Amino acid sequence: MTAISRTQVGIVGAGPAGLLLSHLLALRGIDSIVVENRSRAYCEARQRAGLLEAGTVELLRAVGLGARMDAEGLEHGGIHLQFEGERHHLDFRDLTGGRWVTIYAQTEIVKDLIKARLAAGAAIEFEVSDTEVSALDTDQPVLRFTDSAGTRHVVTCDVIAGCDGFHGISRDVVAAGGHTVWETAYPYAWLGILAEVPPSTDELIYSHHPDGFALHSLRSPAISRLYLQVAPDEDIAQWPDERIWAQLQRRFALPGWKLTEGPVLEKSITPMRSFVSAPMRRGRLFLAGDAAHIVPPTGAKGMNLAVADVRLLSRAFGATTRTSGSTCWSATPSRRPVGCGGPPTSPGG
Ligand code: DHB
Repeated sequence: MTAISRTQVGIVGAGPAGLLLSHLLALRGIDSIVVENRSRAYCEARQRAGLLEAGTVELLRAVGLGARMDAEGLEHGGIHLQFEGERHHLDFRDLTGGRWVTIYAQTEIVKDLIKARLAAGAAIEFEVSDTEVSALDTDQPVLRFTDSAGTRHVVTCDVIAGCDGFHGISRDVVAAGGHTVWETAYPYAWLGILAEVPPSTDELIYSHHPDGFALHSLRSPAISRLYLQVAPDEDIAQWPDERIWAQLQRRFALPGWKLTEGPVLEKSITPMRSFVSAPMRRGRLFLAGDAAHIVPPTGAKGMNLAVADVRLLSRAFGATTRTSGSTCWSATPSRRPVGCGGPPTSPGG
Protein backbone atom coordinates (compact mmCIF):
# COMPACT_ATOMS: atom_id res chain seq x y z
CA MET A 1 0.00 0.00 0.00
CA THR A 2 1.22 3.51 -0.76
CA ALA A 3 0.11 6.65 1.04
CA ILE A 4 0.56 9.95 -0.76
CA SER A 5 0.73 13.20 1.18
CA ARG A 6 2.19 16.66 1.21
CA THR A 7 3.96 18.75 3.81
CA GLN A 8 6.14 21.82 3.75
CA VAL A 9 9.36 20.49 5.23
CA GLY A 10 10.44 16.84 5.21
CA ILE A 11 12.97 16.16 7.97
CA VAL A 12 15.15 13.06 7.98
CA GLY A 13 16.33 12.19 11.50
CA ALA A 14 14.87 12.61 15.00
CA GLY A 15 18.01 13.69 16.80
CA PRO A 16 18.31 17.14 18.39
CA ALA A 17 18.74 18.82 14.97
CA GLY A 18 15.70 17.30 13.27
CA LEU A 19 13.38 17.57 16.26
CA LEU A 20 14.37 21.13 17.10
CA LEU A 21 14.00 22.16 13.46
CA SER A 22 10.49 20.74 13.43
CA HIS A 23 9.70 22.69 16.63
CA LEU A 24 11.17 25.98 15.33
CA LEU A 25 9.29 25.62 12.05
CA ALA A 26 6.02 24.98 13.89
CA LEU A 27 6.51 28.27 15.73
CA ARG A 28 6.62 29.91 12.31
CA GLY A 29 3.45 28.14 11.21
CA ILE A 30 5.35 25.73 8.94
CA ASP A 31 4.34 22.07 8.81
CA SER A 32 6.86 19.28 8.79
CA ILE A 33 7.22 15.55 9.11
CA VAL A 34 10.15 13.91 10.91
CA VAL A 35 11.16 10.39 9.90
CA GLU A 36 13.60 8.31 11.93
CA ASN A 37 14.81 4.78 11.40
CA ARG A 38 15.38 4.09 15.10
CA SER A 39 12.72 3.55 17.76
CA ARG A 40 11.61 6.30 20.10
CA ALA A 41 13.13 4.35 23.03
CA TYR A 42 16.48 4.15 21.23
CA CYS A 43 16.50 7.89 20.44
CA GLU A 44 15.67 8.73 24.04
CA ALA A 45 18.35 6.46 25.49
CA ARG A 46 21.36 7.08 23.30
CA GLN A 47 24.12 8.72 25.31
CA ARG A 48 25.73 11.69 23.66
CA ALA A 49 26.95 15.10 24.72
CA GLY A 50 26.02 16.87 27.89
CA LEU A 51 27.31 20.41 27.78
CA LEU A 52 25.18 23.29 26.51
CA GLU A 53 26.63 26.65 25.61
CA ALA A 54 24.81 29.74 26.85
CA GLY A 55 23.45 30.47 23.35
CA THR A 56 21.89 27.01 23.14
CA VAL A 57 20.30 27.42 26.57
CA GLU A 58 18.94 30.84 25.66
CA LEU A 59 17.41 29.51 22.44
CA LEU A 60 15.78 26.51 24.14
CA ARG A 61 14.29 28.83 26.75
CA ALA A 62 13.06 31.31 24.14
CA VAL A 63 11.21 28.62 22.22
CA GLY A 64 9.45 27.12 25.25
CA LEU A 65 11.74 24.15 25.80
CA GLY A 66 13.54 25.34 28.93
CA ALA A 67 11.36 24.15 31.82
CA ARG A 68 13.04 20.84 32.70
CA MET A 69 16.46 22.07 31.62
CA ASP A 70 16.13 25.00 34.04
CA ALA A 71 14.91 22.73 36.83
CA GLU A 72 17.45 19.92 36.39
CA GLY A 73 20.37 21.42 34.44
CA LEU A 74 23.48 22.47 36.32
CA GLU A 75 25.05 25.82 35.60
CA HIS A 76 28.84 25.82 35.56
CA GLY A 77 30.79 29.06 35.58
CA GLY A 78 34.17 27.52 34.77
CA ILE A 79 36.36 24.44 34.47
CA HIS A 80 39.43 23.00 36.14
CA LEU A 81 42.58 22.38 34.08
CA GLN A 82 45.07 19.97 35.63
CA PHE A 83 48.67 19.54 34.52
CA GLU A 84 52.07 18.91 36.09
CA GLY A 85 50.37 17.81 39.28
CA GLU A 86 48.42 21.03 39.81
CA ARG A 87 44.79 21.97 39.26
CA HIS A 88 43.89 25.46 38.03
CA HIS A 89 40.40 26.98 37.90
CA LEU A 90 39.34 28.90 34.78
CA ASP A 91 36.50 31.30 35.49
CA PHE A 92 34.33 31.55 32.36
CA ARG A 93 32.18 34.38 33.70
CA ASP A 94 35.27 36.43 34.44
CA LEU A 95 36.95 35.67 31.13
CA THR A 96 33.94 35.93 28.83
CA GLY A 97 31.95 38.78 30.30
CA GLY A 98 29.46 36.65 32.20
CA ARG A 99 28.94 33.60 29.97
CA TRP A 100 28.49 30.14 31.45
CA VAL A 101 27.69 26.56 30.38
CA THR A 102 24.92 24.21 31.45
CA ILE A 103 25.22 20.50 32.09
CA TYR A 104 22.07 18.89 30.70
CA ALA A 105 22.34 15.70 28.70
CA GLN A 106 21.49 15.67 24.99
CA THR A 107 19.34 12.63 25.62
CA GLU A 108 17.19 14.73 28.01
CA ILE A 109 16.78 17.40 25.34
CA VAL A 110 15.68 14.71 22.89
CA LYS A 111 13.09 13.49 25.42
CA ASP A 112 11.83 17.04 25.98
CA LEU A 113 11.61 17.66 22.24
CA ILE A 114 9.78 14.44 21.42
CA LYS A 115 7.31 15.10 24.22
CA ALA A 116 6.71 18.68 23.09
CA ARG A 117 6.35 17.75 19.43
CA LEU A 118 3.96 14.88 20.07
CA ALA A 119 1.90 17.03 22.46
CA ALA A 120 1.59 19.58 19.64
CA GLY A 121 0.30 16.87 17.33
CA ALA A 122 3.42 16.84 15.16
CA ALA A 123 4.14 14.06 12.69
CA ILE A 124 7.09 11.97 13.86
CA GLU A 125 7.49 8.51 12.35
CA PHE A 126 9.87 6.23 14.23
CA GLU A 127 11.23 2.91 12.97
CA VAL A 128 10.89 3.79 9.31
CA SER A 129 12.88 1.98 6.63
CA ASP A 130 14.02 2.54 3.03
CA THR A 131 14.07 6.33 3.38
CA GLU A 132 14.79 8.09 0.09
CA VAL A 133 14.89 11.69 -1.08
CA SER A 134 14.46 12.64 -4.73
CA ALA A 135 13.42 15.37 -7.17
CA LEU A 136 15.76 17.72 -5.30
CA ASP A 137 16.29 19.98 -8.29
CA THR A 138 12.58 20.62 -8.67
CA ASP A 139 10.35 22.81 -6.49
CA GLN A 140 8.63 19.68 -5.18
CA PRO A 141 11.26 17.40 -3.64
CA VAL A 142 9.95 14.03 -2.52
CA LEU A 143 10.56 12.11 0.69
CA ARG A 144 9.76 8.39 0.60
CA PHE A 145 9.80 5.95 3.50
CA THR A 146 8.13 2.79 4.74
CA ASP A 147 6.50 3.12 8.14
CA SER A 148 6.70 0.56 10.95
CA ALA A 149 3.43 -1.03 9.79
CA GLY A 150 4.82 -1.58 6.29
CA THR A 151 3.00 1.22 4.44
CA ARG A 152 5.09 3.03 1.84
CA HIS A 153 4.76 6.83 2.02
CA VAL A 154 5.41 9.36 -0.71
CA VAL A 155 5.54 12.86 0.75
CA THR A 156 5.84 15.85 -1.53
CA CYS A 157 7.63 18.70 0.23
CA ASP A 158 8.78 22.26 -0.40
CA VAL A 159 12.21 21.53 1.07
CA ILE A 160 13.88 18.59 2.82
CA ALA A 161 16.31 18.79 5.74
CA GLY A 162 18.88 16.03 6.19
CA CYS A 163 19.37 15.86 9.95
CA ASP A 164 20.27 12.18 9.96
CA GLY A 165 23.79 12.33 11.32
CA PHE A 166 27.14 11.17 10.03
CA HIS A 167 25.89 7.75 8.93
CA GLY A 168 22.57 8.90 7.45
CA ILE A 169 21.48 8.85 3.82
CA SER A 170 21.34 12.61 3.22
CA ARG A 171 24.99 13.55 3.00
CA ASP A 172 25.68 10.93 0.32
CA VAL A 173 22.82 12.32 -1.75
CA VAL A 174 24.27 15.84 -1.50
CA ALA A 175 27.78 14.52 -2.16
CA ALA A 176 26.65 12.77 -5.34
CA GLY A 177 26.10 16.24 -6.83
CA GLY A 178 29.80 17.04 -6.30
CA HIS A 179 31.40 17.97 -3.03
CA THR A 180 34.61 18.57 -1.10
CA VAL A 181 35.47 16.90 2.18
CA TRP A 182 37.87 18.22 4.79
CA GLU A 183 38.71 15.51 7.28
CA THR A 184 41.18 14.86 10.07
CA ALA A 185 41.38 11.61 12.00
CA TYR A 186 43.20 12.13 15.29
CA PRO A 187 45.73 9.56 16.53
CA TYR A 188 43.75 8.75 19.69
CA ALA A 189 40.24 7.92 20.88
CA TRP A 190 38.27 8.51 24.07
CA LEU A 191 37.04 5.70 26.24
CA GLY A 192 33.96 7.10 27.98
CA ILE A 193 32.04 5.73 30.93
CA LEU A 194 28.78 6.66 32.54
CA ALA A 195 28.98 5.82 36.25
CA GLU A 196 26.33 5.72 38.92
CA VAL A 197 28.19 7.88 41.39
CA PRO A 198 27.88 11.54 42.38
CA PRO A 199 30.57 13.61 40.61
CA SER A 200 33.73 14.05 42.65
CA THR A 201 34.02 17.64 41.46
CA ASP A 202 31.93 20.81 41.34
CA GLU A 203 33.04 21.67 37.78
CA LEU A 204 34.60 19.68 34.93
CA ILE A 205 38.24 18.63 35.26
CA TYR A 206 40.41 18.41 32.13
CA SER A 207 43.60 16.61 33.13
CA HIS A 208 46.87 16.30 31.21
CA HIS A 209 48.89 13.29 32.38
CA PRO A 210 51.89 11.34 30.99
CA ASP A 211 49.57 8.30 30.59
CA GLY A 212 47.18 10.41 28.49
CA PHE A 213 44.37 12.92 28.89
CA ALA A 214 41.38 12.40 31.20
CA LEU A 215 38.12 14.35 31.63
CA HIS A 216 35.77 14.30 34.58
CA SER A 217 32.34 15.44 33.45
CA LEU A 218 28.85 14.67 34.71
CA ARG A 219 25.28 14.23 33.65
CA SER A 220 23.46 14.96 36.90
CA PRO A 221 24.16 15.22 40.64
CA ALA A 222 23.98 11.40 40.76
CA ILE A 223 25.68 10.41 37.48
CA SER A 224 29.29 10.97 36.50
CA ARG A 225 30.69 10.93 32.97
CA LEU A 226 34.41 10.23 32.66
CA TYR A 227 36.76 9.87 29.71
CA LEU A 228 40.24 8.42 29.18
CA GLN A 229 42.41 9.06 26.15
CA VAL A 230 43.25 5.69 24.57
CA ALA A 231 44.77 4.43 21.30
CA PRO A 232 42.52 4.88 18.23
CA ASP A 233 42.28 1.10 17.73
CA GLU A 234 41.81 0.31 21.42
CA ASP A 235 39.76 -2.81 22.19
CA ILE A 236 37.13 -2.10 24.85
CA ALA A 237 37.33 -5.75 25.93
CA GLN A 238 40.78 -4.94 27.30
CA TRP A 239 39.24 -2.41 29.69
CA PRO A 240 37.44 -4.06 32.58
CA ASP A 241 35.95 -1.55 35.02
CA GLU A 242 38.82 -2.00 37.52
CA ARG A 243 41.37 -1.01 34.89
CA ILE A 244 39.33 2.06 33.91
CA TRP A 245 39.01 3.26 37.48
CA ALA A 246 42.71 2.60 38.17
CA GLN A 247 43.67 4.77 35.16
CA LEU A 248 41.19 7.48 36.14
CA GLN A 249 42.65 7.48 39.67
CA ARG A 250 46.17 7.90 38.25
CA ARG A 251 45.31 10.64 35.79
CA PHE A 252 43.28 12.77 38.23
CA ALA A 253 45.45 12.12 41.33
CA LEU A 254 45.90 15.23 43.46
CA PRO A 255 46.86 15.42 47.15
CA GLY A 256 43.78 16.08 49.28
CA TRP A 257 41.28 15.21 46.52
CA LYS A 258 39.47 11.92 46.05
CA LEU A 259 37.83 10.36 43.00
CA THR A 260 34.86 8.33 44.18
CA GLU A 261 34.15 5.15 42.20
CA GLY A 262 30.78 3.61 41.43
CA PRO A 263 29.06 1.08 39.17
CA VAL A 264 29.78 1.58 35.47
CA LEU A 265 26.45 1.87 33.61
CA GLU A 266 27.87 2.14 30.11
CA LYS A 267 31.23 2.26 28.38
CA SER A 268 32.26 2.92 24.80
CA ILE A 269 35.16 4.14 22.69
CA THR A 270 34.70 7.24 20.54
CA PRO A 271 37.08 7.91 17.65
CA MET A 272 38.24 11.49 17.28
CA ARG A 273 37.42 12.89 13.90
CA SER A 274 36.89 16.31 12.36
CA PHE A 275 34.85 16.28 9.16
CA VAL A 276 33.22 18.94 7.04
CA SER A 277 31.51 18.30 3.74
CA ALA A 278 30.57 21.15 1.41
CA PRO A 279 28.29 22.20 -0.14
CA MET A 280 25.74 21.46 2.57
CA ARG A 281 22.91 21.78 0.10
CA ARG A 282 21.84 20.11 -3.12
CA GLY A 283 18.83 21.72 -4.73
CA ARG A 284 16.13 21.60 -2.07
CA LEU A 285 17.93 19.20 0.29
CA PHE A 286 19.75 20.94 3.15
CA LEU A 287 22.10 19.26 5.65
CA ALA A 288 22.25 20.17 9.32
CA GLY A 289 24.18 18.90 12.34
CA ASP A 290 26.41 15.82 12.13
CA ALA A 291 25.16 15.10 8.59
CA ALA A 292 27.20 18.12 7.48
CA HIS A 293 30.03 18.24 9.99
CA ILE A 294 31.59 16.27 12.81
CA VAL A 295 33.76 17.78 15.50
CA PRO A 296 35.55 15.56 18.01
CA PRO A 297 33.83 15.42 21.40
CA THR A 298 36.80 17.16 23.04
CA GLY A 299 35.24 20.59 22.70
CA ALA A 300 31.68 19.52 23.64
CA LYS A 301 30.60 21.43 20.56
CA GLY A 302 28.64 19.02 18.37
CA MET A 303 25.13 19.50 19.69
CA ASN A 304 25.63 23.25 20.06
CA LEU A 305 26.58 23.42 16.38
CA ALA A 306 23.55 21.34 15.41
CA VAL A 307 21.30 23.74 17.32
CA ALA A 308 22.96 26.73 15.64
CA ASP A 309 22.48 25.08 12.22
CA VAL A 310 18.75 24.51 12.60
CA ARG A 311 18.23 27.92 14.09
CA LEU A 312 19.56 29.39 10.83
CA LEU A 313 17.80 26.83 8.68
CA SER A 314 14.44 27.51 10.32
CA ARG A 315 14.97 31.22 9.73
CA ALA A 316 15.83 30.60 6.08
CA PHE A 317 12.86 28.28 5.57
CA GLY A 318 10.68 30.81 7.36
CA ALA A 319 11.83 33.56 5.02
CA THR A 320 11.09 31.54 1.92
CA THR A 321 8.19 29.30 2.81
CA ARG A 322 4.79 30.90 2.93
CA THR A 323 2.43 29.50 5.52
CA SER A 324 0.21 28.53 2.60
CA GLY A 325 2.89 26.07 1.59
CA SER A 326 4.27 27.69 -1.56
CA THR A 327 7.90 28.68 -1.52
CA CYS A 328 10.26 30.82 -3.46
CA TRP A 329 13.49 28.85 -3.18
CA SER A 330 15.87 29.16 -6.06
CA ALA A 331 16.89 25.71 -7.33
CA THR A 332 20.46 26.89 -7.83
CA PRO A 333 22.47 26.86 -4.59
CA SER A 334 24.36 30.08 -5.25
CA ARG A 335 21.33 32.30 -5.74
CA ARG A 336 19.54 33.87 -2.87
CA PRO A 337 15.80 33.31 -2.84
CA VAL A 338 13.96 36.32 -4.14
CA GLY A 339 10.50 37.75 -3.92
CA CYS A 340 9.64 36.68 -0.38
CA GLY A 341 9.09 38.79 2.68
CA GLY A 342 11.76 39.02 5.36
CA PRO A 343 11.95 36.53 8.19
CA PRO A 344 9.39 36.88 10.95
CA THR A 345 10.79 37.91 14.29
CA SER A 346 9.32 35.01 16.19
CA PRO A 347 11.25 33.14 18.92
CA GLY A 348 14.38 31.50 17.62
CA GLY A 349 14.73 34.04 14.86
C1 DHB B 1 31.74 16.41 27.86
C2 DHB B 1 32.56 16.13 26.82
C3 DHB B 1 33.54 17.04 26.48
O1 DHB B 1 34.35 16.82 25.47
C4 DHB B 1 33.72 18.22 27.15
O2 DHB B 1 34.68 19.08 26.78
C5 DHB B 1 32.87 18.48 28.19
C6 DHB B 1 31.89 17.57 28.54
C7 DHB B 1 30.70 15.44 28.25
O3 DHB B 1 30.41 14.51 27.48
O4 DHB B 1 30.18 15.55 29.35
